[in-house]
Amino acid sequence: MKPGESPDLRPPWDRLWLGGHLATVARDASGFGEILDGALGVSQGRIAWVGLRKDLPAPPHRLAREVHDLGGRWLTPGLVDCHTHLVFAGDRAGEFEERLRGASYQEIAARGGGIRRTLEATRGASEEELFLGALRRLRALRQGGVTTVEVKSGYGQDLDTELRMLRVARRLGAEGLAEIQATLLAAHVLPPEFAADRKGYVELVVQDLIPRAAAEGLADAVDVFCDRIAFTSEECEEILLAGKRFGLALRIHADQLSDTGGAELAARLGARTADHLEHTSQAGVAAMARAGTVAVLLPGAFHVLGETVRPPVAAFRAAGVPMAVATDLNPGSSPLACLPLALNLACIHFGLTPAEAFRGATLHGARALGLDGDRGSLEVGKRADLVIWDVGHPREIPYWMGFPLVVEVIRGGEVVFTP
Ligand code: NIG
Ligand code: FE
Repeated sequence: MKPGESPDLRPPWDRLWLGGHLATVARDASGFGEILDGALGVSQGRIAWVGLRKDLPAPPHRLAREVHDLGGRWLTPGLVDCHTHLVFAGDRAGEFEERLRGASYQEIAARGGGIRRTLEATRGASEEELFLGALRRLRALRQGGVTTVEVKSGYGQDLDTELRMLRVARRLGAEGLAEIQATLLAAHVLPPEFAADRKGYVELVVQDLIPRAAAEGLADAVDVFCDRIAFTSEECEEILLAGKRFGLALRIHADQLSDTGGAELAARLGARTADHLEHTSQAGVAAMARAGTVAVLLPGAFHVLGETVRPPVAAFRAAGVPMAVATDLNPGSSPLACLPLALNLACIHFGLTPAEAFRGATLHGARALGLDGDRGSLEVGKRADLVIWDVGHPREIPYWMGFPLVVEVIRGGEVVFTP
């Protein structure tokens, strides 16, 4: 099918799944959007039919070229991990030990460790090394049912390394394991050569990094780390506005370690998401609700850093702010390559219901990437990115910790992974 052409969804379909249950996570359904004893037809990589098996318009073998039996299992949308730092070199296991002995993330950052440490390792790594490391982590994510992943740069903070990281993200996409959206995390940490010249670094980002990444088609979005240990709201605003001029979607690491007004900034600039949000105020929640900003919750970082202040989940819920959940996979604050486990952490630490958490890694994760019209739920016309799970009910997906529950991962109607 060529871009712009609409798929022919009339039978005979390419494939039909039945003999099990569906969690549609559809926009207008509540909870998991369960359909017991359901059926789902796929044509030209798109969902052609979803409903109760008994409502199928003809006997299954007349409707599709291939009929697959779910064996009583559950079929759900493919998971969307909408916030990862998948591309990096080295690890920070030494800092893990230091933090266990009492050092804080902020103290380690202040003495030149933390993100700076990964920046040095990443600057020294070749494109091939970065690619192979990221591919390994992408395989791990896919084992957990992920079919779409956002990948950030942000461990280079110079032209060469940032573009190299983004090229790796594009190559990962071409590999076909999952669809990749690439984000230029232009302002993550102030690089050492600009230690005495913050303004100079912001200029480099605005005048060189963003235009180059955009011109080479290497980035879909621009992100910033807005916090006391990173960049001020003014610096972030300047960078995000530059991203906007180049047509990039906007994201913000906001209010993770302190309330710096990141949520309000995201709302004011029309950012697609504000992420972390542990310290977001009521005013921030209200601003996000008015602007339609997605709250991306990252319980892996909360867990690993031993944080105690939780994001204002009850307020997001009351205000109708969509909550996405992602791994934040990175070597420092969230060495977590399993989205189902992130869902468990979101339930335990943040008080999400299993259904809210699951929606956060499907429909709302897709919305965080501007892709909710195309995937994230089982609805006719959407991409047939699907997962078959060996569970008795989808609430088990956030419930079991570290169990391999995925039976099959399907992208665009084709099986791409079986364990
Ligand atoms: O999302 N908060 C800032 N950035 C990352 C951490 C990156 C790192 O520590 O390497 C995060 O948690
Ligand atoms: Fe992050």
